[in-house]
Amino acid sequence: MADRRRATHDALVVCPPGLEELVAVELGGLGVRRSRVQKGGVTCGLTTRQLYAANMFLRCATRVLVRAATFTVRTFADLERRLGEVDWSEWLDGTTNLRFRVTTRRSVLWHDSAIEERFMAALPAGETDSQGQLVVVRAVKDRFVVSIDSSGVPLHQRGWRLDQAKAPLRESVAAGLLAACDWDPATTLVDPMCGSGTIAIEAATIAAGRAPGAERTFCFQDWPGFQPGTWASVTADASVSDTCELRQPMIIAADRDAGAIESAKANAERAGVANMIDFRQAPISALSSVADVGSPGHLVTNPPWGERLSPGGDLRNLYATLGRVGNEHLTGWGLGLLVADRDLARQVRPGLSEVLHLELGGRHAWLLTGRFG
Ligand SMILES: C[S@@+](CC[C@H](N)C(=O)[O-])C[C@H]1O[C@@H](n2cnc3c(N)ncnc32)[C@H](O)[C@@H]1O
Repeated sequence: MADRRRATHDALVVCPPGLEELVAVELGGLGVRRSRVQKGGVTCGLTTRQLYAANMFLRCATRVLVRAATFTVRTFADLERRLGEVDWSEWLDGTTNLRFRVTTRRSVLWHDSAIEERFMAALPAGETDSQGQLVVVRAVKDRFVVSIDSSGVPLHQRGWRLDQAKAPLRESVAAGLLAACDWDPATTLVDPMCGSGTIAIEAATIAAGRAPGAERTFCFQDWPGFQPGTWASVTADASVSDTCELRQPMIIAADRDAGAIESAKANAERAGVANMIDFRQAPISALSSVADVGSPGHLVTNPPWGERLSPGGDLRNLYATLGRVGNEHLTGWGLGLLVADRDLARQVRPGLSEVLHLELGGRHAWLLTGRFG
């Protein structure tokens, strides 16, 4: 029988809006030559090895979708006919349970459930199941793009962040902040408002050379076209980077809230990096104590944002205290602040640069960077 496995996959790497350029750089690091950035993702051609490696190694992505079919249809009869022409055998074996995410815009066929019914009837599949293989269907002006998810559980869920404090960041966003701040993994990092510890733990796993996907599975491993030999070489690469000599930076994670420090510690234990992080229950007014770590490092943090419209005076005081203590004791240190209110951030230091503009949970946020002093 002819080998119908694809040499390249037309892929869309989905990410939080604002991290696209960082994902494109990460893809370049995996040897992906041409990629195109669009809002909320990066399109590219991936070899099978790169598809597996993207799932294993991308830190800023949410999932990797593989394009299965593209066509223009205006009737259900045409939709059924086009679906019947697609060779699904690489992804579906007739028993796979499926779930669908259908969106339509300015299309004659717009009824999501009716479209899903036609897909369920035409695809070789088991049943619909909320945990099943995700099929993404997007129709814009009658042009349908049908994609198969290769990731499964979103890639930012590395498996260690089970304890949550208030307003936790996605691990992918923490990785994006660290990359955009140009934090060098050999140097000191401080998050004085660490909550559940996401920034500090992500940093420690980077310094330890731990692949973000090393502790989890992906849904491409269940595809009929899965190539175990190719996957074995990707996992071998992941364990090589894990055994690299550790660059032991000093990482300090502090929060005034005892519960936050408890959850950060539990998460760090699960990630296997608890011994790389110095946890301190302390308010930012005590930040001066980190100054004794020696040469300047980076302070990267996600302070509380407060309400959408009117930040209270407490929040102004908090940002001003961060500025006062940082400028006094951390002269020369790099600063990365994830904020929703750029005016409030001026309380820390004027003249910070806007490095990222993100959309997180429907809210705009900015990474501002600069230097204390
Ligand atoms: C938005 S949360 C940080 C979330 C964190 N990045 C994560 O992923 O879980 C802000 C944190 O700042 C802490 N915080 C607020 N005021 C503080 C202060 N004066 N000193 C230290 N921590 C403070 C809160 O306890 C909270 O955990």
